[in-house]
Amino acid sequence: MKHILAAVGVALAVQTVNAAEQRIIRISTDNTDLVLQVAPNGRLYQTYLGEKLLHESELKNLKWQVHPASDASVVERGWEVYSGSGNEDFFEPALAVTHSDGNPSTYLYYVSSSSKEVEGGVQTDILLRDDKYPVDVTLHYVAFPKENVIKTWSEIKHQEKKPITLSRYASTMLYFSRQSYYLTEFSSDWAKEVQMSTQQLLAGKKILDTKLGSRAAMHMQPFFTVGLDQPAAEMQGDVLMGTLGWVGNFSFTFEVDNVGNLRVIPAINPYASDYLLKPNETFTTPEFIFTLSKNGTGEGSRNLQNWARNYQLKDGKGSRMTLLNNWENTAFDFDEPMLAGLMKEAKDLGLDMFLLDDGWFANKYPRNSDTAGLGDWDVNRAKLPGGVPALVEDAKEAGVKFGIWIEPEMVNPKSELFEKHPDWAIHYPNRDVYYYRNQLVLDMSNPQVQDYVYGVVEKLMKENPDLAYFKWDCNSPITNIYSPYLKNNQGRLYIDHVRGVYNVMKRVKENYPDLPMMLCSGGGARCDYESLKYFTEFWCSDNTDPVERCYIQWGFSQFFPAKAMCAHVTSWNKSASIKFRTDVASMCKLGFDIGLKELSADELAFCQEAVANWKRLVPAIMDGQQYRLVSPYETNHMAVNYVSPDKSKAVLFAYDIYPRYQAKLIPVKVQGLDPNKMYKVEEINLMPGTESTLETNGKVFSGDYLMKVGLEVFDFKPLHSRVIELTEQ
Ligand code: DGJ
Repeated sequence: MKHILAAVGVALAVQTVNAAEQRIIRISTDNTDLVLQVAPNGRLYQTYLGEKLLHESELKNLKWQVHPASDASVVERGWEVYSGSGNEDFFEPALAVTHSDGNPSTYLYYVSSSSKEVEGGVQTDILLRDDKYPVDVTLHYVAFPKENVIKTWSEIKHQEKKPITLSRYASTMLYFSRQSYYLTEFSSDWAKEVQMSTQQLLAGKKILDTKLGSRAAMHMQPFFTVGLDQPAAEMQGDVLMGTLGWVGNFSFTFEVDNVGNLRVIPAINPYASDYLLKPNETFTTPEFIFTLSKNGTGEGSRNLQNWARNYQLKDGKGSRMTLLNNWENTAFDFDEPMLAGLMKEAKDLGLDMFLLDDGWFANKYPRNSDTAGLGDWDVNRAKLPGGVPALVEDAKEAGVKFGIWIEPEMVNPKSELFEKHPDWAIHYPNRDVYYYRNQLVLDMSNPQVQDYVYGVVEKLMKENPDLAYFKWDCNSPITNIYSPYLKNNQGRLYIDHVRGVYNVMKRVKENYPDLPMMLCSGGGARCDYESLKYFTEFWCSDNTDPVERCYIQWGFSQFFPAKAMCAHVTSWNKSASIKFRTDVASMCKLGFDIGLKELSADELAFCQEAVANWKRLVPAIMDGQQYRLVSPYETNHMAVNYVSPDKSKAVLFAYDIYPRYQAKLIPVKVQGLDPNKMYKVEEINLMPGTESTLETNGKVFSGDYLMKVGLEVFDFKPLHSRVIELTEQ
């Protein structure tokens, strides 16, 4: 044994491990095994990550690839589970620490592990410790067997006399040894969210990251797919799908090493964030959530969607409200009678709620455009003399619930809040300030600011206990990155700011557990699974052109259930019929943001029926299994079907986007049905006065037939759609 571990001043419980007691730690779902093992050198290595192994007794045959530092002829690098900086591994570490004496190395040795049952799964906790410095790392894994999802995060703590500096702090590290790797990323921009593209990962590093601070996913979403041995495909092949629960700067590092192995490192982006960690303070990384599917991204998505509804999403098993929003319709220009009229329109459409958007607040600097008022959350008396209580009353009278928009983490320099507390805004003390959407980000690392932001919700709720919904927006990245509060400890800002945001979200949920909330960030620049513990749904994009929405919804559905994804029918792309627009929005949590005056009598009648149809199909769309059948990325069509948990109801959405003249139309094979059940096929969402042209309409087929032969639902007509309801007979 080459490693004789020195005991240092503080009694570090690090031991050399005998070969006989090289502990094996198995983290398992019903389909996946992650196996870790303590090597003779006392350190912890990944020996396996893949399809579940049948025989426990064979785990001991798995090999770790340990690289003894003293033997330069051995070329394998160890797959150390949480590799520290400055050790014999020449690739990207999970952790980089500069100790208080300036030493930049960390070697972590196994100390102990334990496991316990938690909701939905088993949690394994593993304590590692440096042998020379009192630095502990605890790795946490929760395996959800049924959903085949693993959630993992780490905690870093020390008892050195002075602060240590963390410059890398991954949530975890995973290794793969395959012939080839293909990364699918989800790049974004305003009105252009989740653009999927795939590239092969070759030697070296590919990093997906953002450094936007608050509107953090504006340019890149915090999730990815890796196709193993082949590009990720919908219905076959091995894929890793992962996402980080962090609403701030994140980074995913994919590094292919000298022997062709891949390491995946999900983390907070360490950019400008050397983190001074005080003795006994715990640095907790965000949760990384992943699934491994043998059957492509379709199964992987269902794993994540089911897991989210069961354990992570706020009120994941509860119901959702359909709504009428007024942003696209009125923007800032409204008054109480107009809103009261819209509430009646919401009722007319059969919707559950009216959601008042931006522009209802601020008096000294009224919120009549995006140039002023953010921060002053008193109702604007000129527009709304009766205040929010009068609106809640109007909604009651109309017979709908009332919800309201806020953007509480932001401030316009033209506001009373900024006049009173300029030091609450993140900005440099000594430079010209630059703005994004004319606003600044409040410094959420400051506990006083956190209280203020929480107070925005509390004040509204105290005054209006019947407020039924919040839309929480965040339109600016962090600009002028300097915290007046953190002074000479700026390395903490990006991270402590996000922790402050979560503190407030958590507090809101603790005090208002039944309050549904929409997460929004200038469209879909916020949709991480930590925020979604506190939010019931998120706004996918301001782009509600139904053609673009096909792609956007296809993209987000890779990681999120339809229940969490809001989609509104608006007047973007009027060359698409109201039917096409509604059929696309009906794939998600349905809402409208359109004035009824824009609609003809037939169109209104169509919408009313579509809302009623959607409500009837909630067990399939909101709570069922989703199957992506035909991709808009690969064809000029799209098809998706949903099946209710008891398989008695299903719905097939089919879209002809821009079909080619006389291109071959292939029947769409439905998935997830019971092969032995008989289903009646009925086309719904038809315009008044029109009849289905489907040859199979009204007929009954077995699930087997529908899944093997399919339905001829595609057409040559551009911007044409069909919604088919399948009902067990
Ligand atoms: C951006 C959001 O995405 C929109 O839906 C709307 O709420 C505006 N902000 C309001 O300023």
